[in-house]
Formats: sequence, C-alpha cells, structure tokens
Amino acid sequence: MSEPILKVSNIETYYGPIMAIRGVSFEVAEGSIVTILGANGAGKTTVLKTVSGVMDPQKGTVVFQGREIQRMDPDKVMRLGMSHVPEGREVFPFLSVRENLRMGAYIRKDPDGVAQDLEAVFGYFPVLKERADQRAGSLSGGEQQMLSISRALMARPKMMLLDEPSLGLSPKLVKDIFDIIVRINRERGVTILLVEQNANMALNTADYGYVLEVGRIVMADTCARLREKEDIKEFYLGIKEEGARGTRRWKKKKTWR
Ligand SMILES: Nc1ncnc2c1ncn2[C@@H]1O[C@H](COP(=O)(O)OP(=O)(O)O)[C@@H](O)[C@H]1O
Ligand SMILES: [Mg+2]
Repeated sequence: MSEPILKVSNIETYYGPIMAIRGVSFEVAEGSIVTILGANGAGKTTVLKTVSGVMDPQKGTVVFQGREIQRMDPDKVMRLGMSHVPEGREVFPFLSVRENLRMGAYIRKDPDGVAQDLEAVFGYFPVLKERADQRAGSLSGGEQQMLSISRALMARPKMMLLDEPSLGLSPKLVKDIFDIIVRINRERGVTILLVEQNANMALNTADYGYVLEVGRIVMADTCARLREKEDIKEFYLGIKEEGARGTRRWKKKKTWR
C-alpha cells in the first residue's frame, strides 16, 4: 500500500494543565474519506486543530504528504494543501458570499483556476450563486455550512478537515451536504477527514472510522465493519434504541477501556 497522505502518531494536546488528547494515532489513505466519531467532549475538535496547526501538541508527530507539520503555522499548513472547515461554520458575516469565497482563494495566483473553482462550488451549491451578493451573515445555518465548505474548496486543497458539518442542521440538509462531501471526494479527488457526533451519517459516508473517547482512540475499523458491530450501535452510538434517522446526539456510553 502507498504511504498515507496523513499519519498522526501519539499526539498529546493540552488546554493549560488539562490533557485533552491522550496519545492519539491514526492514518488517512490518500483519496479516502475517514471519520473520527465521538461524543461531545471526546476531543474531536482538538484533534483537527492539532492536525491543522491551530493547536500545538506537546508530544507526537503529524506527517502530511511525507512532511512533519506539527507546530507549523496554520497558514503554512493550508498552503501545503490542507483546508480546515472549523466547527460552527465561521464565515465572515459582513462580507458577501462571493467575497467569502474569494477570501478562500487568497493564497492562489491562478485567476482562471479561481474562476473555474467559483463556478464549481456554485455547481455544488446553487443557492450560493443565488445569494452571491448577500452578506454571509444573512444566510441560514445550512447555507453558512455550505459556504464554509465552499470557501475551504476555493483553496483547491488536497485534503479537507471537516468539523461536524451536520451540527444543528435538518436531516434533509445533512443528507444534501454529505452527498456533496462524497462528490467532492470522488470528483475532485480531495481526501477527507470528517469528525462527527452523527455516527449514522458518517459511517454511511466514510471508508474507515475511528472511535474517540475521552481523548483516546478506542476502536478502529472499516465503516462497513463498524456498522455491523452491535455493541457499538447499542452502547456507543445509541442507534438501536433511537431508530436509524441519524441526527441525534450520542447517548452516554459504556466505557471501553
Ligand atoms: N478552550 C478550552 N479550554 C479548556 N478545555 C477545553 C477547551 N476546549 C475544549 N476543552 C476540553 O477538551 C476536551 C475535548 O474538547 P473538544 O476537542 O472540543 O471535543 P469535541 O470536539 O469532541 O466535542 C473536552 O473535555 C473539553 O472540555
Ligand atoms: Mg467539537
């Protein structure tokens, strides 16, 4: 097998004295969609921030395309081809949709390519084209999530980190957004690392999955096999009791250690 595009080894990340990530290792194969699942507070956001350079790990390495990037400036990581779509869809509320998208492309020096990609994101999310001249702050939550993903795409990344794109959206919108995530992966060859509480949706979208609990990976397998594990469904993902719709929060789980 070829080298993974991303290899994270034994990272430990702290908030002051508190260790939030307690020795986490995982890999992402080039061209794949990988998910990290976990309850609220498990450490998903902290893992993504550590990978993209927003936070520095105390220990461990993050290797992206064969190069160590831990403790690198996030702007530099982005220039290497990794775009981070943060939790809570941070758009620039007072700029228009189009201006937000242009901001996503600020590192690029190929205006023709930027124009092409603008058309491409308008193809994925036609509503953004309709609202191109509106202020981003006037968009609905779902539209802001679309804009946040699109802005990251405007950098023409090799890899995207997505932090809970489903949070707070209706089941229909969640499905639409996940369909587009799959298309971005298949059509544009963008490798995707997706963190989610919405286990059902993520397990149906990703190729490989890790389960994170209190700062540690407690399970790793193909999503096909993770979907089959009754114990995950019952004790961890809370799918069995609550039906299979897929937007609920996780119920409190058993300890796996
Ligand atoms: N700014 C912060 N200061 C102190 N602790 C934090 C901060 N942000 C997150 N934490 C703690 O770190 C742990 C992991 O948080 P986070 O990565 O946000 O989890 P998740 O994204 O899975 O919900 C939690 O225990 C959380 O309370
Ligand atoms: Mg989070």
